Amino acid sequence: MSSYKEPSIMSQKTTTVTLDKLVALCKRRGFIYQSAEIYGGINGVYDMGHLGVLLKQNIRHAWLHSLSSDHGEIILLEGSILGPRSVWEASGHVEHFNDPMVDCLECKHRFRADEINLEKPCPHCGNKNWTDIRQFNMMFQTQLGATADHASVAYLRPETAQAIFINFKNMISTNRVKIPFGIAQIGKAFRNEITPKQFLFRMREFEQMELEWFCKEENAQQDFDFWQEKRFAFYTSLGITEQKIRLRDHESHELAHYSTRCTDVEYQFPFGWKELEGIAHRGNFDLSQHSKHSGKDLSVFDDDTKESYTPHVIECSVGADRLLLTLLFDAYDEDIIEGEQRVVLRLHPRIAPIKAAFLPLSKKLTPPMHEIYKRIKQKESAIQFDEAGSIGKRYRRQDEIGTPLCFTYDFDSVNDHQVTVRNRDTTQQERIAIDQIEHYLTNTLGS
Ligand code: GAP
Repeated sequence: MSSYKEPSIMSQKTTTVTLDKLVALCKRRGFIYQSAEIYGGINGVYDMGHLGVLLKQNIRHAWLHSLSSDHGEIILLEGSILGPRSVWEASGHVEHFNDPMVDCLECKHRFRADEINLEKPCPHCGNKNWTDIRQFNMMFQTQLGATADHASVAYLRPETAQAIFINFKNMISTNRVKIPFGIAQIGKAFRNEITPKQFLFRMREFEQMELEWFCKEENAQQDFDFWQEKRFAFYTSLGITEQKIRLRDHESHELAHYSTRCTDVEYQFPFGWKELEGIAHRGNFDLSQHSKHSGKDLSVFDDDTKESYTPHVIECSVGADRLLLTLLFDAYDEDIIEGEQRVVLRLHPRIAPIKAAFLPLSKKLTPPMHEIYKRIKQKESAIQFDEAGSIGKRYRRQDEIGTPLCFTYDFDSVNDHQVTVRNRDTTQQERIAIDQIEHYLTNTLGS
């Protein structure tokens, strides 16, 4: 972990961030845009701008990094998004991946039946005239090729996990791995959510980061505990406020059709405690199902007992976009600096999309500062050069996007070969030698 020390100002964070404030910041600073906005937008689908892309890359990188341990090998897969109907029949998604849906017969508004009280009037129009509850399958269906028959039906994957299960034999035989080991995958998933909402929280197109950990049945509970602890530690290592994160075990009625034990990592969003990551004991449900439906044996041979068995699976699954939203909520703060309110994202430096900004105090000082910027950029690409506007305005811009450090070149720099470095969280400034910038940056970022 980085040597970054949280300044005391962070513990004084008292701002109650609202969804509206966060959405506005994301748009204003170019993190996230509504998809197809110029055509009126598409519900539950978002585009990532420059800073959003950088932030997400850092999240993916941190997630992958967090999986390594002495516990066993982790190998990587990038499966396809389209899957034939047979895959989703075997996985149970065709039959079970439903949400209960109800319509108001007066205003035609559609709701998830488990999210409203049907004893009460419609929250949209105030009438009480409901349809029966119907089950709605959330998979996006499409068709492969020109012939529309049962065999050509395909689905956009609603979870990345199945690509891991159907490639299990390929992966184990080509990577010379032994149980226990994990297959990790990052990729898009699609769900036709009845009511996409809360910005990136419930989207129709989103990205998942999933680990399927294959182990022997007798070790599954112990491995579940191991991963539960490790996943929780990941979130605190990203600087997420400890009081706002918790583990919650599922009641038996909440379990998905494939799982026998499940714990959610939950975060306290402004709209309540909600799932951030699901940790599930999937048993050997998936491998058994795919063995049965494909006719291919997905068991492994145990050299000790000289018997074949179907491994059990512990799954750790988190949405990259939901984690991004969580990190933004957790980092958002407002404080007063020199009588002026500022918005600041107190992101962990490892996650911050831009690590440092290089600011000449005056445009006359652009050439020497630009030379320094170009030199540092060769080693650390996530830095910005900004010469536009007053220095105060430029600091505020960087605070809003969570840049941990700003280096300023002023008229004294010409003679003393020093710059001022300003800390985002404390706003404290110090002078350091120009040839120390790289060292200072590395120290702060911990790389
Ligand atoms: N393979 C298991 C699985 O997909 P899930 O609980 O349905 O389990 C796992 O999803 C994670 O994916 C969730 O904890 C959440 O972080 C993310 N996720 C699920 N649905 C989402 C959606 N509609 N929008 C954004 N993220 C979502």
